[in-house]
Amino acid sequence: MEFQISSDELSQLNSACLIVAIGEDGELSAAAQQLDSACDGYLSQVIGAGDIRGKSGDTLLLQQLSGIAAKRVLLVGLGKADERKDNNFKKVVNAALSAVKAIRVNDFSIALDDSAVNDRDCYWRTRILAETLASGLYQFDQLKSKPSDQVEFEAIQIVLAEADVEAGEIAILDASAIANGVATARDLGNLPGNICTPTYLAEHAQALADEYDCIDIEVLNEAQMEELGMGALLSVAAGSEQEAKFIVLQYQGADEAEQPHVLIGKGITFDSGGISLKPGEAMDEMKYDMCGAASVLGTMTSVAELGLDLNIVAIIAAAENMPSGFATKPGDIVTTLSGQTVEILNTDAEGRLVLCDALTYAERFEPASVIDVATLTGACIIALGHKTNALLSNNEALASKLLAASDYSTDRAWPLPLWDEYQEQLDSNFADMANIGGRPAGTITAACFLSRFAKKFAWAHLDIAGTAWVSGKQKGATGRCVPLLAQYLIDLATDSEDDADGCCKAGDCDCHDND
Ligand code: BES
Ligand code: MN
Ligand code: ZN
Repeated sequence: MEFQISSDELSQLNSACLIVAIGEDGELSAAAQQLDSACDGYLSQVIGAGDIRGKSGDTLLLQQLSGIAAKRVLLVGLGKADERKDNNFKKVVNAALSAVKAIRVNDFSIALDDSAVNDRDCYWRTRILAETLASGLYQFDQLKSKPSDQVEFEAIQIVLAEADVEAGEIAILDASAIANGVATARDLGNLPGNICTPTYLAEHAQALADEYDCIDIEVLNEAQMEELGMGALLSVAAGSEQEAKFIVLQYQGADEAEQPHVLIGKGITFDSGGISLKPGEAMDEMKYDMCGAASVLGTMTSVAELGLDLNIVAIIAAAENMPSGFATKPGDIVTTLSGQTVEILNTDAEGRLVLCDALTYAERFEPASVIDVATLTGACIIALGHKTNALLSNNEALASKLLAASDYSTDRAWPLPLWDEYQEQLDSNFADMANIGGRPAGTITAACFLSRFAKKFAWAHLDIAGTAWVSGKQKGATGRCVPLLAQYLIDLATDSEDDADGCCKAGDCDCHDND
């Protein structure tokens, strides 16, 4: 399925279904107005008769309108003018997509102008439109014996005004790179633990490195991790028959001398809890405990497709957390790669144990920034629910860049405090620290644990426990936070380009005379 940009006159456009929007109380968007004049006011008549009210997500399908080349016209409601925020835009797009999926057509066209969302330009509208459509068309049927019978569209046309075509073309290229990254993350997440093992993640990473010349890969096995002293990571894998893998991808898009940005993903391919075994209910969902790794690998796919002018290192700490006679026990004390010792009071707090060694390993790259992504704590779901990634950071500039990227990409994140006051919850009588901090502020104390291994660089932690997948009938991976990470990196690449031009984005900086 491919997106195309068209600037054809709407009434002349050949399409199986042309989608245009109307507001609540029936006002027509500019696109709908054009069609309305072409069909002698038939659209106004239908709306006037009350067949569609234009509430957000309302749809009405009309057939064979005279004066209009498209076979069908689908009206979609935008809601009230002051309610047209980013989220409403995606809701509208999804409603239109459901309606067009319900009919047997091979292609459709969609013309949403600037009335569809407040305070966003054509690039944003087109990009988020394409990403939302791609996401709505995603399916995971590779493990069904027969493929599902969902409609596949041969072509999707995005109709823009002539003046917007250039921005639109860039937007669909960026959107496809991001959508491919999201789909990669969703595929990896949805694969079950018996297929998606640490070795499988390493093979996936290897395939990515094989595909792109600008990506190099190194995969450490357990013997090599032992040699380095990654006692924390290895303690998680101790009970598993599956060998842990430490995967390092290096993407070089800028001068070799430029400091890299490091992304670290938690890759627990199944989290049984270990000896601190989890209850059985919904335990299958712990196959998603590698979604941090999946979103880092997905982001690398996007980055490589976009060809960003940055150096990026992706580190995947992959292991399976299982109980066995060899498994780590509550009370065991391990030595991390940093030399700090940890008393493992709960073997189910394993994510921080694999991540801490990855953070220490990241030091060797002298990184410009380090971001780790993890389905780290159930407490995150209590704090922020299923809509929002938690963000904790030791660096305000980095945190605000991530927040800006999360707002723009609609992949929302929100900060939690990382104040010293919480650190004492990790005190241990027998080691440098415990791996759990009790029930209160579980997301914060998990990040406090990680912060002890991130002292040498600007670091941020994204807890995606609530956002990485949805449960219930629609169970499946979401691909969060690929859009956020991709946007963060796109912004960095754009900033450094501006620096290279000797020019600042807003043009109102201190480093130039602006007279
Ligand atoms: N992978 C889980 C966190 C999790 C649980 C994510 C449920 C999404 C849904 C993590 O390894 C874990 O088990 N964390 C424990 C930590 C606790 C023992 C301090 C938790 O959150 O209960
Ligand atoms: Mn766990
Ligand atoms: Zn886990």
